[in-house]
Amino acid sequence: MPSCKKIIRNTLGYLILALNTVAANHLIPISEVPLGEKIYHDRCEVCHGSQGDGKTFAANALFPPPKNFTAEATKKALPRERMIRSVTRGRPGTAMMPWESILSKQEIHSVVNYIRQILMGLQK
Ligand code: HEC
Repeated sequence: MPSCKKIIRNTLGYLILALNTVAANHLIPISEVPLGEKIYHDRCEVCHGSQGDGKTFAANALFPPPKNFTAEATKKALPRERMIRSVTRGRPGTAMMPWESILSKQEIHSVVNYIRQILMGLQK
């Protein structure tokens, strides 16, 4: 049955993708990868983009727009502590809202780790 083959092929594809992600992410404690990843894709991706480049439909309507996390200039401009603070308290006067009443401290750390290590390709 062709549809059955397709399901198997897709499942294998996702499995390989997942394994690659784990392999590329050995710096994050294993338990945190899915947590930060899930939070990002559930709550942040709509504005920041699935790859973190800020190229989203929503970004067209935002001023200032979200930064491209993957750009070298952004990597230099955004130390970890600042990111934690911005996610916790938001960025007043922008669409970046405070998340402290929605996400726990651990969740905020996990999502920032995900952005830094996976999307920005930084060491920590
Ligand atoms: C409604 C759109 C929107 C959503 C949803 C959103 N952001 Fe943002 N975010 C923005 C915008 C716009 C900026 C740019 C703010 C600025 O330039 O000061 C921003 C900035 C940031 C920054 C950089 C802040 C700085 O210090 O310059 C980080 C880190 C960030 N967002 C993380 C997140 C995380 C993590 C989530 C999900 C939990 C999230 N964002 C969800 C719109 C959004």
